[in-house]
Amino acid sequence: MKFTWVENDQKVNADYELRFVLNDKIENCPDRETLEMLGFKDGSICDLPEARRVYVSLKDTAPETLRLGIAKVMNALKGHKIKTIQMQRLISSAAQGGTGAALKEMQNALAAVAEGFTLAAYSFDKYKKEADKCGIKEVFLSVTGCDKETAESALKRGRAIAEATNYTRDIVNEMPQVYTPEKMAADSEKLAEEYYNVKCEVFGKDYLKEQGMNAFLAVNQGSPHEPRLIHLYYRPGGRYQGKICFVGKGLTYDTGGLSLKPGTSMYHMKSDKGGAAACMGIIKAAAELELPFEVHAVLGATENAIGGKSYKPDDVLKARNGVTIEVNNTDAEGRLVLADCLSWAQDMVQPDMIIDLATLTGACVVGLGDYTAGIIGNNYNLQMDFKKGSALSGENYTILEFNDHLRPLINSDVADVKNSVPGGMGGALTAGIFLDKFINEDYKDKWLHLDIAGPAFSSKAWGYNPVGASGAGVRGCAYFMISKEV
Ligand code: BES
Ligand code: ZN
Ligand code: ZN
Repeated sequence: MKFTWVENDQKVNADYELRFVLNDKIENCPDRETLEMLGFKDGSICDLPEARRVYVSLKDTAPETLRLGIAKVMNALKGHKIKTIQMQRLISSAAQGGTGAALKEMQNALAAVAEGFTLAAYSFDKYKKEADKCGIKEVFLSVTGCDKETAESALKRGRAIAEATNYTRDIVNEMPQVYTPEKMAADSEKLAEEYYNVKCEVFGKDYLKEQGMNAFLAVNQGSPHEPRLIHLYYRPGGRYQGKICFVGKGLTYDTGGLSLKPGTSMYHMKSDKGGAAACMGIIKAAAELELPFEVHAVLGATENAIGGKSYKPDDVLKARNGVTIEVNNTDAEGRLVLADCLSWAQDMVQPDMIIDLATLTGACVVGLGDYTAGIIGNNYNLQMDFKKGSALSGENYTILEFNDHLRPLINSDVADVKNSVPGGMGGALTAGIFLDKFINEDYKDKWLHLDIAGPAFSSKAWGYNPVGASGAGVRGCAYFMISKEV
């Protein structure tokens, strides 16, 4: 989708016009009478095809209000064969002051507009005969209180973040037959080819053995597809402000293994690669935005399948860092893959901060619902920092805190730890406590675990997310990094 700047709100020859109604105020609308008759009110959307105009009411011009308002419009216009739309000039209340903060607010609003359109236009329809594609190719817009150059760079930022999110959505939505660990490695290599400052290294089974990554390898045992450890990284050309490493759970399919999932819980487990796919999107966004950080992604890609070679409950695994793990449930596999990937990433990448993303626990979905991810870790200040820094992204995150009563629940009678707490409450936190066993002393305060099991995939559409993958994690982490830029 293209965003074209219009000088002074001039009328262009677009197929349709989009008008925002702030706080219910319809006095100055050209279609006031019609809107009144139709009972247009707060929260409404009104499509007037004869006038070729659509109205949407907004309570303010905050980024998330804009994204959601635009999504409503895009859904309403889906059946129309519109190619271009002109958006009414955006006037942010704060931007009228002309201060630096006001300008920032306008830039955030513009980025959100680009995100709203780009995210809401997404559909995964490669396997459908009749695609339900949005036809809008170009959006004309102007704003007050911001020059063309500044506006265009804000729009570019929003578009880049949303396109990276859509890229992640495509990966997560792809079926398990096609999206194997080899395919994830091939896509990562392709990403490195597209950006001169992104590099990719791929490691196979032999390397994992050499590295003693036996927890990761155990999960892979039952699958006909070889595992892949993928290391993608972006190096900035100019300013350098630190090194951040994202670690992603890349379960290309999670059957549960021998602790097999029941059918209804297994359905949609193609989404269990959501963490790794988000890391790929984050690298893409970092490269597009030319962020001043070295950004690494370490992906653990494997399937959790059943077969004669599958690992079993009662197996004891020795992880890369030497910690022994009693397996009591093969469905708690993500933490095993992450255990070795986290250990590898700390030693090999030596970042200033390490953040893992994973569709890790059903417990997190039960606790937080479908729209919120958990921020887990030892360092409350870092958790707060992520929460605040990601706030403009529109993604929902909430902090979950460890406590010392939970820690011994993963103690095992036969090994250093066990991989799940039977009948255990607080599953999102005990999974985090398990991961903490693979965090080196010097990284305890530099690590965050994001459990995105809730928002990564949905069987119903919400906001600007269609049915299926949302691309959860990409926008939150991109905005977090932007917030750290000095
Ligand atoms: N991939 C699942 C978690 C999940 C559940 C993601 C629902 C998305 C939606 C994970 O590997 C898993 O199966 N976790 C188990 C852990 C349990 C055995 C301790 C779970 O949450 O039930
Ligand atoms: Zn599982
Ligand atoms: Zn899983």
